[in-house]
Amino acid sequence: MGYFKESLVILLVAVLGASQGSVLNVRYDQPGHEISPILWGIFFEEINHAGDGGLYAELIKNRALSPKRHGANLDGYAVVRSDGVDGRIYISHDHPLNSVLTSSLRLNVDSDVAAGQRIGVSNNGYYGIPIRPDYTSYRVSFYAKAIGFSGPLTVQIESTDGRVVFATAQVPQITEEFQKYEVTLTPTPDMIQNPSLDNLFTISANGPLSANSSIFFNVMSLFPPTYKNRPNGLRIDLAQKLVDAKPSFFRFPGGNFLEGNTIEERFIWEETIGDNAQRPGHMGCWGYYSTDGLGLLEYLEFAEDLNAEIILGVFAGYALNGDSVPPEEMGPFVESALNEIEYIIGNTSTTWGARRAADGHPEPFPLTYVEIGNEDWFSSDYYIRYPIFYDAIRARYPELQIIATQDVNTRPIPIRDDHFYSDFGWFPDNHRYYDTAPRNGSKIFVGEYATRDNAHPQPEANTAAAIDDAAFMTGMERNSDIVIMACYAPLFGHLNDLVWKPDGIYYNGVQSFATPAWWVQHLFSVIRGDTYIPTDSDANVGLPQEKIFHVASRKSDTNTLILKIVNTNTEDIMIDTVSLTGISTTQGGTMTVLSGGQWDQNDLENPLRISPRSQAFNVTSNSFTYNAPAFSLTIIEIQL
Ligand SMILES: *[C@@H]1O[C@H](CO)[C@@H](O)[C@H](O)[C@H]1NC(C)=O
Ligand SMILES: *[C@@H]1O[C@H](CO)[C@@H](O)[C@H](O)[C@H]1NC(C)=O
Ligand SMILES: *[C@@H]1O[C@H](CO)[C@@H](O)[C@H](O)[C@H]1NC(C)=O
Ligand SMILES: *[C@@H]1O[C@H](CO)[C@@H](O)[C@H](O)[C@H]1NC(C)=O
Repeated sequence: MGYFKESLVILLVAVLGASQGSVLNVRYDQPGHEISPILWGIFFEEINHAGDGGLYAELIKNRALSPKRHGANLDGYAVVRSDGVDGRIYISHDHPLNSVLTSSLRLNVDSDVAAGQRIGVSNNGYYGIPIRPDYTSYRVSFYAKAIGFSGPLTVQIESTDGRVVFATAQVPQITEEFQKYEVTLTPTPDMIQNPSLDNLFTISANGPLSANSSIFFNVMSLFPPTYKNRPNGLRIDLAQKLVDAKPSFFRFPGGNFLEGNTIEERFIWEETIGDNAQRPGHMGCWGYYSTDGLGLLEYLEFAEDLNAEIILGVFAGYALNGDSVPPEEMGPFVESALNEIEYIIGNTSTTWGARRAADGHPEPFPLTYVEIGNEDWFSSDYYIRYPIFYDAIRARYPELQIIATQDVNTRPIPIRDDHFYSDFGWFPDNHRYYDTAPRNGSKIFVGEYATRDNAHPQPEANTAAAIDDAAFMTGMERNSDIVIMACYAPLFGHLNDLVWKPDGIYYNGVQSFATPAWWVQHLFSVIRGDTYIPTDSDANVGLPQEKIFHVASRKSDTNTLILKIVNTNTEDIMIDTVSLTGISTTQGGTMTVLSGGQWDQNDLENPLRISPRSQAFNVTSNSFTYNAPAFSLTIIEIQL
């Protein structure tokens, strides 16, 4: 019991003339609106190596040699060779793989290679090639051809110092024409018990081999086991964390990544489908090249896995450098958006529906929500661009619901996407932000939000930030008659490339963990009701700022009352009486608490330091005392 509690008791005694102390009323007898059934979801954007090097399980960096970035480059590749053997790698423009990937990686053998020696090329992946106990086999594919050499090629995962070979396979013969080769690498189980990253993927030619031979490569690919064992699939531990949170919707592909630094560098969905050898990738807006191996169909299939609504962001003619497509030139961009929708929902008699079927998914996907652009408040012409897309989409697909990124009065705004990245204190102080929003206006999608210490360029993913988020989330749940969807951002961060912090889930190549902020998201999502139950409390009376936040709901199918209590205070706060009005007795239930020190974080050494603890909630009466720990989210599920 801290300072706040004592002042509170004194104040209440004075005001009420009784010594009951603070009360939190849960008005079960006054049920309110339906809680939006899709309230909590996720937003994916290619930032912090969220896709490449993250959720997208490809382990080879720069698979297609980044052809669209000022010509191709060799980022990630190096020569491997035995002592005394010479060779070079470079980009060859004279040996294109195809009309999309117009170059190749050329390995030139510059000295004779004797029997027992080798010359080859390595790739060091996204901050290392991972060896993990659960990576029991790897799918390899690549295109190769040679001049003056016909094989065999040896494919390996080996330690960077070359001393340990974890797995090896051979391609017996290659020819003078590009062909795709596929092998499986199967490490012996006892070699992979200790996770490691200081490893390389290598493809090499063994001697004897004469100087001046050349071997050409492109689209080298190395996949560990993937989520649902899909080829071109997702990293299991990261996908599973999202699946476990039961998100109701999946917003993609951005975000700024949708817009691109320039109009040319926008997300061109047509270049993200089909064979990986037909995907040029493009320079993303967060400092690295995207393979676009995680493309439109992969996003859609993951939404299907999640059983989540698809929230499709379509490019709306504005890029991050401030360039807008003039209205008279918008035609192809509108057509592209309509085609994208057709790719998702068109039947197989339509052009793009047929293409989807050819890509492996004959069944149309369910689609309800299309978002026009991203954060268009940065532009000055959304009032012009929005109607162009709005009218075209409405005309062809009247059943779709349109999300705008900014209020404009040139067309209706059925749903508006609000974003908030704010300092400590802002979210708790503004938990009533939507209490007074018009009930007859736009529905709200809070498509990005996170507490971040704006004074620091790289704020940390600590408990205090997560609990501030939770305070605001009680307000969104309370207002979920109009706030129909909300998702935290950014979702992912590779620990070797955190261009934006904090984030929901952190990882390197061999380990991943949830930040406190993600646990808050997870808990709000997995424990939710369908009907809002009003709550009120005097627990904040006398405090300089509100510190206790609360929201309740009923889950009708299980007859459960759910009470969420957030304490953003540096000390515990005692709620002397939690009163369940309209209920005489209960069957008890479960209490889940997430709490930690103000600046505490999770990390690779302590991935679960801040994580939810559940215990039986044994109270069966309609009132009880609750001591809300400092910096905590508590969720009490009471069986009625
Ligand atoms: C390799 O080719 C170069 C130029 O074509 C030639 O000068 C050199 O003698 C050749 N080396 C060998 C070992 O054949
Ligand atoms: C396929 O979609 C097109 C365009 O919406 C429509 O005209 C056609 O009737 C549909 N065909 C089937 C078999 O549903
Ligand atoms: C919503 O209701 C208010 C008050 O009745 C009214 O002034 C306003 O025009 C309405 N807005 C819409 C979008 O219908
Ligand atoms: C609730 O009951 C269980 C089983 O009797 C017991 O193990 C647990 O400690 C109790 N929890 C509390 C908070 O008293």
